[in-house]
Amino acid sequence: MAVISVALAGRSYDVVIEEGLMAQLAKRAAPFLKSYGTTRSVPFVADTNTHRLYAAGIDTNLAAHGLAATWFVVDPGEDAKTWSVLESLCDWLLGLGITRRDHVFALGGGVVGDLVGFACAILKRGCGFVQLPTTLLAQVDSSVGGKTAINTRAGKNLIGAFHQPSLVLIDPLVLATLPDRQMRAGYAEVLKYGLLGDAAFFGWLETNGNKVVGRDPAALGHAIATSIAMKARIVAEDERETEDRRALLNLGHTFGHALEAETGFSQSLLHGEAVALGMVLAARYSARRGEISVADAERAAQAIAAASLPASLAALGLACDGAALVEHMRHDKKAESTTLLFLLLRSLGEAYVARDVDLADIAAFLDGELTA
Ligand code: GLY
Repeated sequence: MAVISVALAGRSYDVVIEEGLMAQLAKRAAPFLKSYGTTRSVPFVADTNTHRLYAAGIDTNLAAHGLAATWFVVDPGEDAKTWSVLESLCDWLLGLGITRRDHVFALGGGVVGDLVGFACAILKRGCGFVQLPTTLLAQVDSSVGGKTAINTRAGKNLIGAFHQPSLVLIDPLVLATLPDRQMRAGYAEVLKYGLLGDAAFFGWLETNGNKVVGRDPAALGHAIATSIAMKARIVAEDERETEDRRALLNLGHTFGHALEAETGFSQSLLHGEAVALGMVLAARYSARRGEISVADAERAAQAIAAASLPASLAALGLACDGAALVEHMRHDKKAESTTLLFLLLRSLGEAYVARDVDLADIAAFLDGELTA
């Protein structure tokens, strides 16, 4: 078992990583399973998949401890992060008589976690929630750090709040049922931690990445714990991304966001896949600026390709040019009025925020990558 604390003044919380946690929820989450609301049962939110896989086990485990869950189930996918689902969820929680002392349990991937976190940020000006992430991406990234949001017509995650969970329980065993493609997409975020801040971890992943993606228990546990430890450190230093520290977690995301926008945020390119290719582009652009060697950029690309993640922009077959991708970047919520932030590499294991990037040069670079 690993317990990593996210140290935030007055709002510190633990991230617990242990195989079999889901089956011992009543014990592991005991302080947060008390209900102060009128129905006396604990609110859980799941999607139809996580509900089908885990609700019965959770109900049984809670019942054995004299507790009961009550469930709100959403459709899987980004469509659950809408105003209308948020409204239904808030109405349901208010109907339960939820109080500010209650905790809502979010059982699912990033969509469920973001939706529940945001509902809990605004309900009665803030109630508690517990994250039970069931995808690798949610386990190593979105469940920790308190970024919560829904999508609107204008874009993804544009309505949201920073609202930290009270506890994150990560059970690597739940990844056994995760489709391989989702597992690889989550692994892109694991590689991100190595590339942005830990050369030794990146080297370890070059050797052991196939074991992580293959769900080898020891390798997976080490990868999750190392990733969370870095995220916890960064969030503690710069919770609201007001300094350049937390922005480092966006390595691969500026390029990746443009690729997701160009492919319509569809299943043809998952978020983690876009981040993977975005990291290849960030590495190659860093080499173009002479900050890392071409050999190091290709080493990063090779680590990504080795996990069967996209490492070639040309292979995506996009019918656009570099200028169109830059235009998508301008609409990223992380864009500032006069400039775009790019996360680039000083070495494999050290990222930095660049604000001096010439967008015409980025477009020219992307034109080359689109046809390489
Ligand atoms: N996923 C990036 C962050 O949590 O800041």
